[in-house]
Amino acid sequence: MIDQHRTNGGGASRRDGEVRDVTATTGQSASAAARASDVWKVYGSGEAQVIALRGVSAEFERGRFTAIMGPSGSGKSTLMHCLAGLDSVTKGTVQIGETTVTGLGDAGLTKLRRDQVGFIFQQFNLLPTLTAKENILLPLSIAGRKPDPAWFDLVIETVGLRERLGHRPAQLSGGQQQRVACARALVARPEVIFADEPTGNLDSRSGAEVLNFLRNSVRQHGQTIVMVTHDPTAAAYADRVVFLADGQIVSELVEPTADTVLDTMKRLDTPAEVVG
Ligand SMILES: Nc1ncnc2c1ncn2[C@@H]1O[C@H](COP(=O)(O)OP(=O)(O)O)[C@@H](O)[C@H]1O
Ligand SMILES: [Mg+2]
Repeated sequence: MIDQHRTNGGGASRRDGEVRDVTATTGQSASAAARASDVWKVYGSGEAQVIALRGVSAEFERGRFTAIMGPSGSGKSTLMHCLAGLDSVTKGTVQIGETTVTGLGDAGLTKLRRDQVGFIFQQFNLLPTLTAKENILLPLSIAGRKPDPAWFDLVIETVGLRERLGHRPAQLSGGQQQRVACARALVARPEVIFADEPTGNLDSRSGAEVLNFLRNSVRQHGQTIVMVTHDPTAAAYADRVVFLADGQIVSELVEPTADTVLDTMKRLDTPAEVVG
């Protein structure tokens, strides 16, 4: 069996066997795939100083699909980059699984990005000269790892790309290219996949395909996904939505629908209102 099926909302995941119980010593949940503790991020200095994150603490539970929402400039990408070890924090700590990202040097960060996290970007970021299959396997080849053939096959099947593995990105639609990028992120079975506006460049139909695929990889294969979006419909595919405003977490929803997400967005847009 490649994977156990799991239902939404906590409980067992495929990585449970590897999880040590840290609750007793830290008071934190052992099931977090990623965790930010009082994370501050300051860009520039003096007049040019921008405080992008102001003490963000958040846990991203294993085997769950979390959306991060908030207005443009609220710090969504910064938080994701800090969580993924793509950017340093000014203060605070970030953990991916058992790894304290904020304590790592360059070599450790390279290893973390290679082995423990996967990325999906708005612009797909595929290499134009490589076929779909070569793009999907590139991170593993760089890491000198061989794909698990059964898992590769399942990923290809789920993402619906079997007929197009020999195509180059230019021969694929935007939705297909993003599905190649999803397969590339998933094939290495990272601890967490971070997706920054993955449907931002797609029409609604292709966007729905990609979101369905992401949700299935969480529900059926226990993958952990953190996705930045500003689209309420996209956020409704997630199990939980975290709302950022001005570098702080201001609200949270579980089992969101497009309507409850929209309501929360409207509420947060009202400056006079107290949110929480
Ligand atoms: N490399 C950078 N240098 C300076 N300021 C930055 C940099 N990256 C982001 N910022 C600023 O930090 C704030 C948060 O940006 P960002 O995380 O990209 O927001 P979002 O993804 O929610 O639109 C913004 O004010 C942005 O201008
Ligand atoms: Mg952004």
